[in-house]
Amino acid sequence: MKALSATRADRLIAWQRQHGRHALPWQNTRDPYRVWLSEIMLQQTQVATVLAYYERFLQRFPHVQALAAAPLDDVLALWSGLGYYSRARNLHRCAQVVVQAHGGQFPGRSADLAELPGIGRSTAAAIAAFCFDERAAILDGNVKRVLTRALGFGDDLAEPRHERRLWAEAEAMLPARDIAVYTQGLMDLGATVCSARRPTCEACPWRSDCVALAQGQPEAYPVKTRKLKRGRRENSLLLLSQSGHVWLVQRPGSGVWAGLWSLPEFADDAAVQAFAASGPGELVAWPALTHVLTHFDWYLRPWHWRLPARAGTALRERVATAWPDGRWWPRADATTLGLPAPVRRLLDQLP
Ligand code: ADE
Repeated sequence: MKALSATRADRLIAWQRQHGRHALPWQNTRDPYRVWLSEIMLQQTQVATVLAYYERFLQRFPHVQALAAAPLDDVLALWSGLGYYSRARNLHRCAQVVVQAHGGQFPGRSADLAELPGIGRSTAAAIAAFCFDERAAILDGNVKRVLTRALGFGDDLAEPRHERRLWAEAEAMLPARDIAVYTQGLMDLGATVCSARRPTCEACPWRSDCVALAQGQPEAYPVKTRKLKRGRRENSLLLLSQSGHVWLVQRPGSGVWAGLWSLPEFADDAAVQAFAASGPGELVAWPALTHVLTHFDWYLRPWHWRLPARAGTALRERVATAWPDGRWWPRADATTLGLPAPVRRLLDQLP
């Protein structure tokens, strides 16, 4: 007689216990502050990168009250290099809401967590599963890949009705118990075995009933019928330095690199050269770099203009007029600011 096979959830839980990750710094705690912080950092950033940031963040802000009380600039500075800075701004706002509206305690149900800034449905479910054992389904990018493959779910998730259906499938698969292990198992499976390219299906607890594997092409899922056309933008940047100081401009509160300190931006090289033409000192082109953002690749051509120590007041006034949101920063101080990663690298390259 054929034994009744264990459910997918059972097999995933057993697999997680044996093969999953157990020693990440945000595991083995049920402190919602720590779990929340890790989930936000992990939303668009890999574990290996998050590790160092996570420790530094907790040292500086050991609890939600400390984070809520900090100036946003300090939060952005510690976030600098993690990218997707709206996460940092929402993190700060969320901490303030938790302190002001919830007495410093994160709500204990996913539906209430999802009302907080920066916490979407999947993140709310992860926090509630890890901290409060709530049976709530997660569905982030990795989990979408795992589930569409396992189920042979061939509809394009860009359409809300299809995504809603996959949410329902995710809920139907939840185990009656061990929700935290199950949730971590889904994340671990997506991060290790069920990778976007070259999944290692022989190591998967779901290999016996994975529809995509049976079809012979697991990489075909998730199905995307609409091609996202990535844009491309080009700009030139001016790194202006004088006597150990650099001129940085704080970017507006919305859009790319919102609120971070960056370099003056020009439409093209000709515009930089025109700006520098009348001034003293030497303008030098540095190697171009490409910065990949969500909707476009930003092709940036940096120029370094080193002003002589006594370069005139007139030029400094012209700079201040051109970028009213800018100021001179001593280089050592500049590195403590919230800087976009490419700008930080450029400042590191200053002689
Ligand atoms: N990615 C998102 N959440 C995670 C977690 N808790 N552990 C590992 N990777 C993750």
